[in-house]
Amino acid sequence: MKVAFFDTKPYDIPAFDKYIEGTDITIKYFEPHLNEDTVSLANGADCVCIFVNDTVNKAVVDQLYEMGVRMIALRCAGFNNVDTRACFGKIHVFRVPAYSPYAVAEHSMALLLSLNRHINRAYIRTRDFNFSLSGLTGFDLHGKTVGIIGTGKIGKIFSDICKGFGMNILAYDKYPNPDLDLNYVTLQELLKQSDVISLHCPLTEDSHHIIDRSAVEQMKNGCVIINTSRGGLIDTDALIDGIKSGKIYGAGLDVYEEEGDLFYEDFSGHVIQDDTLVRLIAMPNVIVTSHQAFLTNEALDNIANTTVSNIQKFFAGELNPETEVCYHCSRKEACRKERHQKCF
Ligand code: NAI
Repeated sequence: MKVAFFDTKPYDIPAFDKYIEGTDITIKYFEPHLNEDTVSLANGADCVCIFVNDTVNKAVVDQLYEMGVRMIALRCAGFNNVDTRACFGKIHVFRVPAYSPYAVAEHSMALLLSLNRHINRAYIRTRDFNFSLSGLTGFDLHGKTVGIIGTGKIGKIFSDICKGFGMNILAYDKYPNPDLDLNYVTLQELLKQSDVISLHCPLTEDSHHIIDRSAVEQMKNGCVIINTSRGGLIDTDALIDGIKSGKIYGAGLDVYEEEGDLFYEDFSGHVIQDDTLVRLIAMPNVIVTSHQAFLTNEALDNIANTTVSNIQKFFAGELNPETEVCYHCSRKEACRKERHQKCF
């Protein structure tokens, strides 16, 4: 099986090379994103392996199909960048549903601690031999209330971490899980009572801008916002106004609404054209990381392991409903996987 691997980063190669050793898979690593301009690189491949900022629209699907590509192996969980409807009946799409929920939950806590205790500013000061503590006062997390929006794999682990800090947990989920020992409340209640709000739900039509101007107004004064899920969950202008007015104490953001053309690339030495992002980064009480919450050795290893297994199973003709996705996925009544059949 020949795989064209797009958006390759140096840390991808060792993990994938380890898992393809001894298999009949060969990988050609390409640095560019997959899109209409670069799709020709996939010529001769059976499968393309892609990440979050590759673009598989209908035009790309049609060209891939014409070239003989029959599988798209996403090495991430989300598949909003693939036109699954255009793929249906032509190209099977697989993903890695979970690779390390611990990595993301731990990064959320890292952002919270860094923000609250001003570690980012302290680091810069002491490197300049400035040992003043002015402006570095934080607050104890112990006894504070954290509101967790989305209590799936990552949200649950984040709640366990917060419990370890002696925090009170409030939870909001569109589909509350009765098996979890969590205090579910309405979104309004969560906004009103939380000292810290952490987002762990997927980006869907329902959750788009779940933190908007009205949500910011309902928040407790001095609330901290942590977002390691998807940028589109937050109306960035509303967030910035909330921070400027002092309503919001600070924000730890691993994701940003318009991250697609920026995150994962080195733009040092360039003038960034996105004024909103520049404004956020310029704020002393905002920490932005570039969608790195997943980036641990364990997660990279799991991603490579599951992706290579997806490729092997697909070309061996095996059923693999846990990782295959299609445009029926959010519509249970139409989902063939529920009946243990291939998507098509
Ligand atoms: P999951 O599917 O286990 O849990 C998501 C939870 O959100 C579920 O309990 C679901 O019922 C809930 N939910 C769905 N719609 C909602 C809504 N409108 N309002 C409130 N809750 C809602 O997903 P998991 O693995 O915990 O991942 C959560 C998110 O983390 C992913 O959707 C992804 O966006 C993000 N993520 C970020 C990474 C990073 O590197 N920054 C890496 C991996 C995931």
